[in-house]
Amino acid sequence: MKNTAIKRSDYQPFPYNVENLDLSFELFDDKAIVISKAKYTIKSEFKAGENLLLNGTNLKLLSISMNNEDITKNNCCSLNDEGMLITNPPSDFELIIKTEIHPETNTSLEGLYRESSDVGSTFCTQCEAMGFRKITYYPDRPDVMTKFTTKIEADAKKYPRLLSNGNKIDSGDAGNGRHFAIWQDPWKKPAYLFALVAGDLALTADTYTTIEGRKVALEIYTDEHNANKADFAIESLKKSMKWDEDTFGLAYDLDTYMIVATDSFNMGAMENKGLNVFNSKYVLADPATTTDAGYEGVEAVIGHEYFHNWTGNRVTCRDWFQLTLKEGLTVFRDQEFSSDMQSRSVKRIEEVTIVRNSQFGEDASPMAHPIRPDEVKEMNNFYTSTVYRKGAEVIRMIHTMLGAEGFRNGMDLYFKRHDGKAVTCEDFINAMADATSTDLSQFMATWYFQAGTPEVNINWEYNEKDETLYLKVEQTCPPTPNQPTKKPFHFPLVIGLLDKNGDELKLKSNDKAFDANKSLLNITKQSQTFMFEGVKSNPVPSLFRNFSAPVKVNAQYTIADYLFLMKYDTDDFNRYEAGQKIAVNIMQTMVNSGENMEADSCIIDAFKQVITDVNAGKLDKSIASKMLTLPSTTYVGELMDVINVGLLQKARKLLRKTIATNLNSELLDIYNSNYSSSTYKFTTDEVARRSLQNICLSYLLELDLGADIALNQFNTANKNDNMTDVMAAMSGIINSDSVSINDKNKVLETFYDKWKDDTEVMDKWLSVQTSSCSKGTLDIVKMLLKHPVYNETKPNKVRAVIGGFCASGADNFHNIDGSGYDFFADFIIKYDKINPQTAARFVSPLLKWKKMDSTRKSLMKSALEKIQNSGNTSNDVSELVEKGLS
Ligand code: TRP
Ligand code: ZN
Repeated sequence: MKNTAIKRSDYQPFPYNVENLDLSFELFDDKAIVISKAKYTIKSEFKAGENLLLNGTNLKLLSISMNNEDITKNNCCSLNDEGMLITNPPSDFELIIKTEIHPETNTSLEGLYRESSDVGSTFCTQCEAMGFRKITYYPDRPDVMTKFTTKIEADAKKYPRLLSNGNKIDSGDAGNGRHFAIWQDPWKKPAYLFALVAGDLALTADTYTTIEGRKVALEIYTDEHNANKADFAIESLKKSMKWDEDTFGLAYDLDTYMIVATDSFNMGAMENKGLNVFNSKYVLADPATTTDAGYEGVEAVIGHEYFHNWTGNRVTCRDWFQLTLKEGLTVFRDQEFSSDMQSRSVKRIEEVTIVRNSQFGEDASPMAHPIRPDEVKEMNNFYTSTVYRKGAEVIRMIHTMLGAEGFRNGMDLYFKRHDGKAVTCEDFINAMADATSTDLSQFMATWYFQAGTPEVNINWEYNEKDETLYLKVEQTCPPTPNQPTKKPFHFPLVIGLLDKNGDELKLKSNDKAFDANKSLLNITKQSQTFMFEGVKSNPVPSLFRNFSAPVKVNAQYTIADYLFLMKYDTDDFNRYEAGQKIAVNIMQTMVNSGENMEADSCIIDAFKQVITDVNAGKLDKSIASKMLTLPSTTYVGELMDVINVGLLQKARKLLRKTIATNLNSELLDIYNSNYSSSTYKFTTDEVARRSLQNICLSYLLELDLGADIALNQFNTANKNDNMTDVMAAMSGIINSDSVSINDKNKVLETFYDKWKDDTEVMDKWLSVQTSSCSKGTLDIVKMLLKHPVYNETKPNKVRAVIGGFCASGADNFHNIDGSGYDFFADFIIKYDKINPQTAARFVSPLLKWKKMDSTRKSLMKSALEKIQNSGNTSNDVSELVEKGLS
């Protein structure tokens, strides 16, 4: 039976407190026996007698007793699709429930599952959001918090490590070659933060002493052969712990912090109390196998899960609609951490790129939802870029408006009021508002309630005689499902005015909405006009500095203004943004002129300027490499009324070729002066140097002369254990028309021969082939699905092959003959039976059919219908498909 949607407005508190929860797990090859013992006492504001639901799915109930009386066969409890209904419970009672579950056949990777690899098997749990109900009958909701004690018993040889949350309080022999361990977590927590791991794992250990003087054991568990790749994760963890102390005064609160790396995981990582479980991809790092982006990913995700210990675990969500309370805030925190560890401006550009490439499209699709959704059928579908990324942008706007100090005061008050509690987004906003005496009511009423990306139009007029500048700001927001009209949003517009030499003009305005200390305009109305005085010369405004609000902007700039801002803006983000605007305009014009498109040469002027500035040392190499990267076809398409994937891909390709042809000697010079075959180091400067080197290489590969350069880089980096340079060369080679098929195959073979036994590296080998723009990619995808390294039970493998194919936005998934969509529909129908959560995550590109050109539109719709009509789709997939077709 299908779940029906749950509404945010239907929230009801749980009437009982759970005083404590004792769990016992007996793990076997063909089953697991779970005994849970919990004491329930009625809350003072409730009266006993109402029927009580304990969630449970896919459980075999062996026995249940209430207050030591066996009630398994009584009619005081009945089972339904959602779990167990206890009729007329008393005000205090203890339940002991024995269930049988099957981790060995659980391919959903939710609840307790057993993963296998060449070297053995590991039991592992994933309980967020609602996986605990696949373990035992329990009020599986985040506002029910209790203290957990967990006993694990398993074969001693196969599973020497037995781990759970908190502190190990006992362990020993259990007879018959089995052993046990008992763990106790002193902190109350909701069931979604429970974790258990049992396996044969190698330990990498270190310690960290907190600012409060607590000596914490840091432990990272990996497969034996990966133990040498855990050092960077340890360093990242220590930096995270220090950063949270320095920035927010928050210290760790247990004596052990454990991280387990697994190859079978639906997402990035999970913040279970004291026992994080990670996708191996975000733990293991080593120059020979990990790219610069990979290193950054490890540091960011280690930080993210660590920061959850306060924003998520100590203060958690009252219900799942509040997910952005912990995720938006924790993403903001990990972004700030990365900004402090690496380059702040570059990090900002990367964040905005992700928001534009993935969140803007979601906001314009049938899946559009506020960062706090109103209605959910399958919670797993709402771990979205809207909740996470836009959620972080919303927190960032608060940070911008309150300033770092005000924001810190707000955080302090939030923890003072809500530590140990399960709360709502209102509670967070109120703490921010109260701590700083700021009115955030309109901010809350718009960003947390309304979906869609606001669009802002800005026009200005300079009056030389009066030395005044009038700046008019107007906002609209397109309709989204169930929200035809919107109230005006409240957002900060950070602004600067530049004179003709590029110097900052002083901002002077009497407008109440102007905050002079922060150079920001508080926009709250549909239309607002600001007057600036004492403006000595005709200025070029720099708008939405540092991307101060997640909106789309249309301003009355000329190309000359953009070139000026690229050169002079003191705001790195806007310097970058000006170049992107030029490129977006050109690409749109090209697409609009159809098959006979031509590239506008003003892109050459823009690129020349970047090259001059970076050569003169007036522009950071990393930022330069971002400025030399054309906007993605996904982003440019998203800004157009009709998306034509074929023309977009053609336009981007032609533009790249034009740039390469016109600037080949400059690009070659930069490549040569930045190329190095020295030993890999992950430092901000080295990452910057490599990123500039490799963006130049990608342009050179548009020309014949690039082939030998790329092959040489590939071979040298391969010998020197530099995966960043290997991957840049390999993906460039695979996508290039200048490299022969023979050479492409040789590169793939060399890579394969070296790395075939490293499953994580093989994901790169797979995705480089499946995300290629080259013709014939679908056949390669089909072939790779039969390749021995592919494994349908490992989401990383499925993501590499299928995700690479359908998320790349290339004209292969979107082939106008419909073959890509048709293949995809068949795949989803099949894979949904294995892993519905991950299957559903692939569906989103198909949901965007309404804006496509007419041919693709009907083909995509048919693919959705094919999935829908297959019958028996999971809640996960059916929710998305229904939305897509509504
Ligand atoms: N809370 C996790 C994070 O953002 C993400 C998460 C949610 C997750 N559901 C999951 C991870 C399921 C793995 C599986 O850090
Ligand atoms: Zn998170």
